[in-house]
Formats: sequence, structure tokens, C-alpha cells
Amino acid sequence: MAQDVSNGLAAVEKLLRSSVESDDAFVTEASKHLIEAGGKRFRTLMVLLAAQFGDPSAPGVVPGAVVIELTHLGSLYHDDVMDEAPVRRGSPSANARWDNTVAILTGDYLFAQASDLLADLGPELIRIQAQTFSRLVQGQIRETMGPQAGDDPVAHYISVLADKTGSLIAASGRFGALLSGAPADVEERLSRACEAIGVAWQLGDDLLDVASASAESGKTPGTDLREGVKTLPVLYALAADPSSRLAALLSGPVAEEDVDEALTLLRAHPAMARARAELDAWVDRARHDISGLPDIPAKSAFLALCDYVVERSG
Ligand code: IPE
Ligand code: IPE
Ligand code: MG
Ligand code: MG
Repeated sequence: MAQDVSNGLAAVEKLLRSSVESDDAFVTEASKHLIEAGGKRFRTLMVLLAAQFGDPSAPGVVPGAVVIELTHLGSLYHDDVMDEAPVRRGSPSANARWDNTVAILTGDYLFAQASDLLADLGPELIRIQAQTFSRLVQGQIRETMGPQAGDDPVAHYISVLADKTGSLIAASGRFGALLSGAPADVEERLSRACEAIGVAWQLGDDLLDVASASAESGKTPGTDLREGVKTLPVLYALAADPSSRLAALLSGPVAEEDVDEALTLLRAHPAMARARAELDAWVDRARHDISGLPDIPAKSAFLALCDYVVERSG
């Protein structure tokens, strides 16, 4: 399995780069900027591992993984505009290196290139990608709007995570299963498990926005606080002591001069451990589904991925 997956990852890298080549040298440069800056290729790996439950050498597997990675990449170009994020994958974001217009249009170009590859994979995959992208975008919109009157803020937050991040990670598992011809019950199980991993993944990302140094995450810590995006540790800290100094700092977008103080107070707050416990619960849901998969090496690999998601933000 390891050899298959490592060959698959190499093939994905090759196709990912060639799929964004344009006659216009600048379009190619702007598209390759974040591809070459790095990235964990977590979703690619999920597609390839899921494909182990069918025929991993089926011809659609590698293009399917590239479709997922391009969709992810396009969403990052747009996300950094919305979040006014200066750094991505340890490099300047496209909006910082050029401007918002270039970042938005490059994101659109990446989505278009994904659709072009997807067209060869057939209507079922096209529809899954469309529904996935629809959820992703609606998650981003609902995050921007915040909870509405009558919404429970924690339930709103979790549903935003499931839509903006869980959807594409679930689609990664489903693509791998479908494109390799894995049995339908395995496809359902993988999709459910990957969605739960996706929620946990984003929860970990939100914890890292508070807890990590920029060198580890390749991003700028405190981006969520500056944007006023209330992530789970913030919601828990606000609920714990609404009249505290920390709650006053976190009640809206945090001013640049207050970010260090807010981060220091939040890092020491029990809200961090509570949010970690929620992450653990989502990973346990994923483990439960994975435990019912056929006993092949990819099953252990999925369980190891679960451990990685827990450890990454610990
Ligand atoms: C970043 O995703 C956006 C989130 C959904 C948290 P990743 O953490 O997978 O980012 P890369 O692809 O490795 O840069
Ligand atoms: C990113 O969410 C989700 C998508 C791109 C769909 P965040 O804004 O929380 O992720 P980072 O921290 O910028 O990677
Ligand atoms: Mg962001
Ligand atoms: Mg965002």
C-alpha cells in the first residue's frame, strides 16, 4: 500500500502542476504560487487511501485527487482575501504578494481547471463536487454572517465547520471510494468518517490559530481574532466569564494592539482544553466508522490519520 500511495502522491503533484499551465505566463505563475509554497496534501492522501478499498490503479483516482486539491486551493486563495490573511503555507498569500483582484481571479481559474478535469470523470462525480462546493461556500457565508437570532452559537459554529471544511474532506473519501469502484457501504462509511475528520481538522486549525507560532502553522496566529471570527475556544471563554477582561477583548474583532494580550489570556484559559475535548469527540466518531471498514492496511492508515489530527493541535 505505501508504495501505491507514494506513487499516487507523485502522480498527483505532476498533474496538479500541469493542470494549471496557461498560455499566459502570469496566470501560471499566480496559480503555482501556493502549489509550490507547500501544503500538507491531506485531502489528496485521503482520496488515495480511500481508493485502496477498491482498485487503486483505476484511471480516475489521480485526476479525482487533483480535482479535490484544486478545489481546496481555489478556496484558500479566496479565503485569504476574506480573512485579510498575509501569510499562507509560510509564504505571502496571493492577496499580499499581488492584490485581491489577482487572488480572486486566480481562485476562479483554479475552480475552472478543476471542472475541466472533472468533466472526464462523469456526471455522478460532477454532481458530488457541485454539492460539496455549494456546502463549502455556504459554510463560509454563514461564518461571515455569524449566528442569527435564536441560533445556539456552538451549534452554529460546528455546522459551519462541517460545511466549510467537513464537506470537502468527506468528498475526498467518497471520490477515492467511487473512482476505485469500492463497495457502496464502504463509500458511505468513508464519507461519514472523513466528514468527522474534517470537522476535527478545522477545530484543530482553530486551536492552532490561538496556540501556534507562525513558523509551525505557516500562517499568522490570531487571524480569527482579528477578523472577529468566534471559534470554539473563544465561544467557550465568552460563556465562562462574560464580564472578564478576556471576554471584553473577544467580544468583537480584536484590535491589532490587543491581539498579543488576547492570545496570552486565551492560551491559559480552560476553554482551550474544552475545545480540545470536542475535537477528540469528533475524531472518536471517525474512528467508530473506520473500525467497520475491511481489514486492509489502509484501515490502519486511516486510524493513524485520526491520531495525527489529535496530536497536531495538542
Ligand atoms: C487549511 O487547510 C484550511 C482549512 C480547512 C483548515 P489545510 O490545513 O489542509 O491547508 P494546507 O493545504 O496544508 O495548506
Ligand atoms: C478555511 O477556514 C476554510 C476554507 C478555505 C473553506 P479558515 O479561514 O479557518 O482556515 P485558515 O486558517 O485560513 O487556513
Ligand atoms: Mg482563513
Ligand atoms: Mg476563513
